[in-house]
Amino acid sequence: MKKIPIIMDCDPGHDDAIAIILACASDKIDVRGITTVGGNQTIEKTTNNALRVLRFIDKDIPVAKGANNPIRRELEIAESVHGDSGLDGPELPQPTQEALEISAFELMAQIIEKSDEKITLVPTGPLTNIAIFLLAYPHLKSKIERISLMGGAAIGGNWTAAAEFNILVDPEAADIVFKSGIPITMAGLDVTHKAKVYPEDIAKIKRQGGKVAVLVAELLEFFIRFHRDICGWDFAPLHDPCAIAWLINPDMFTSKKLNVMIDTDGEHTTGCTVTDFYGNNKQEANVDVLLDVDRFQFIDMLIEAVNKYN
Ligand code: RIB
Ligand code: CA
Repeated sequence: MKKIPIIMDCDPGHDDAIAIILACASDKIDVRGITTVGGNQTIEKTTNNALRVLRFIDKDIPVAKGANNPIRRELEIAESVHGDSGLDGPELPQPTQEALEISAFELMAQIIEKSDEKITLVPTGPLTNIAIFLLAYPHLKSKIERISLMGGAAIGGNWTAAAEFNILVDPEAADIVFKSGIPITMAGLDVTHKAKVYPEDIAKIKRQGGKVAVLVAELLEFFIRFHRDICGWDFAPLHDPCAIAWLINPDMFTSKKLNVMIDTDGEHTTGCTVTDFYGNNKQEANVDVLLDVDRFQFIDMLIEAVNKYN
């Protein structure tokens, strides 16, 4: 079966870590490289976390560090959600591999240039690295198959009333990406808030028994804490794995092709992914917006993935 070659750009982060585990377990995905960005935590911490996860799952995938700061704003981190390390909760040994000396953008360019097939980019953090790559290597845009991203929301936000964290951290970068003309799948809050993981799902994952199953369960046990204590929810919305799960099985999702534009300077709406459900703006529908997911299939996919490591 032909695999989908991808580069993940992430800010681990509990859900980013699970997205890496899901991608590396899938026989439909070929993770050619992982780049890191400041977001949930600083670039040093998100890079260290990506390396720690790869050591734990024993995967030798090149990792390169990208931008710490957004294009023109100060970095805002999500320590309240992911903790001081960015991956608080489980005990994860320190990495044995180092990040490459080259930058995230250079690694992206190297992988894309030498690939015989187009590459899919899977950003699950702020879009700073993707935007910088597109600006620095415009000639490589034609070798990008698609961008399957976690970010935004057709309706609402989770960091302000109108904006989701990844887009809000670097709205200028998001604007560049959403105007790039590259096919985009947006796994925004509309779908990720339906990718609900309940305590009973966590228990079921833990009961699978392997060390990766236990790690994923412990990541979720920490991740649900913020959503229970601050949001008052009895579930954790598993955001980032949706961007990978769609690549593995798009039929699990419901989507609509809509025009999405980024607000970069609204008094109350900066970082909003303005989604034109009714075509009022008469603009091209540039994004496949994910709106729903079969939650049971999603949980089954996670369980199948953790068992692949046994
Ligand atoms: O809003 C959720 C997103 O912000 C997820 O990618 C999470 O990891 C954080 O980066
Ligand atoms: Ca993330």
